[in-house]
Amino acid sequence: MEKLIIEGGKPLYGEITISGAKNAALPCIAATLLAPGEHVLKNVPNLRDTRTILSLLEELGATWRREGATLFIDCSDIVYSEVSYDLVKTMRASVLVLGPLLARLGRAKVSLPGGCAIGERPINFHINGFERFGVDCRLEQGYVEAFIDGRLKGNTVYFDQPSVTATENLLMASVMASGTTTLKNAAREPEIGNLIDMLVNMGAEIEGKGTDSITVHGVSKLHAAETKIIPDRIETGTYLIAVGAAGGEAVIKNCNPLHLPALIEKLKESGLALTTEDSSISIAAQTKKGHELKSVDIKTMPYPGYPTDLQAQFMVLMTLSNSICVIKETIFENRFMHVAELRRMGATIKTEGNSAVVSGNGRDALSGARVMATDLRASSSLVIAGIAATGRTEISRIYHLERGYENLVAKLSNLGARVWKENE
Ligand code: EPZ
Repeated sequence: MEKLIIEGGKPLYGEITISGAKNAALPCIAATLLAPGEHVLKNVPNLRDTRTILSLLEELGATWRREGATLFIDCSDIVYSEVSYDLVKTMRASVLVLGPLLARLGRAKVSLPGGCAIGERPINFHINGFERFGVDCRLEQGYVEAFIDGRLKGNTVYFDQPSVTATENLLMASVMASGTTTLKNAAREPEIGNLIDMLVNMGAEIEGKGTDSITVHGVSKLHAAETKIIPDRIETGTYLIAVGAAGGEAVIKNCNPLHLPALIEKLKESGLALTTEDSSISIAAQTKKGHELKSVDIKTMPYPGYPTDLQAQFMVLMTLSNSICVIKETIFENRFMHVAELRRMGATIKTEGNSAVVSGNGRDALSGARVMATDLRASSSLVIAGIAATGRTEISRIYHLERGYENLVAKLSNLGARVWKENE
């Protein structure tokens, strides 16, 4: 097992290039199952999670090759095969193959993902939607076994609350269903728009991209196509917050500022200087006297609200602020696993249910310590804390980080951070 070592207390200066979005690449890779032929996906990050879903596709008969950031995936010979618990428990987004397999083969058997560090993570919206399309879904021995004789039947599905992968799964199930499908109270994350663009490139007929009501007119077949993955907005936000916490100046390149409306406002409210161009964001974080970070409340919400995947990172920034703020997590029931670790670095945080009260102790609030990563985004908050802290921080279980951040050590070192890996 490896650990990450960080010698903190040094401001960051330079440029950083953002990779393709993990949470767009995963559904788009799953969508290649819908049509035979060679699909081309550009700007795909090389991450543990993208490698996991590609090995899943291989088990289903797909072949693929990578040339730099471009994936060539051929799904001409898809065969029915169970998606095992071992695979799904390492990456719950494996459930995204359910929709395309039902559309392509009319059957699928996938292990239920089970919970994870941040919450119970049920998939009842996914299953309810498939049943609305006429699919017979059985839950047995921890698996969902889904079957339909012939084409899925388009229908209206109403989500009790917006769900990103449920919206994506039902979109992929509906594109070749008979008749018309309407997804109401659908999630509006930009990654869903990227998937819609890909499905339309493949011949699907979809209206309502970017809204909470998506209408799909089923077609009889789809064809392979070429699609580009959007920049990773969560990676972008993570590095913006890292510079804000460490101090310094940086230009974040190959990103899309329009995908981070809430974060950009909150960073400006905290006193950081941000300017945006079409595909870059510049940030300047003064650490001199008189430029203290202001305490700013956040409440996580479905897009375009403040993203839950940037909650832990913003909390670190607020531990360095000049007063008190409240951070409310409304999406997942257990997404404060980073709090105990941050307290070990000197942070003053009190949690009460899904709210955390952060008492900022100024820019010298944090000191290095040995801490443990618990989930992907909590681990990136510990990296930010280590960079901002004085002294040495050691982060164990960094396999969490490698799921969602491509070349993190190289990118941070490029900004002047003193960070490297060592064996435990
Ligand atoms: C996606 O997860 C992302 N993962 C998550 O990113 C992200 O945090 C989350 O959306 C919220 O934005 C991918 O896109 C691969 P949800 P997802 O369904 O789709 C409840 C990361 O760090 N719900 O939008 O699983 C659920 O419990 C990951 O990259 C049901 O009740 O999240 C939650 O409270 C972490 N039943 C809420 O909806 C369901 O069937 C939103 O979850 C589905 C969801």
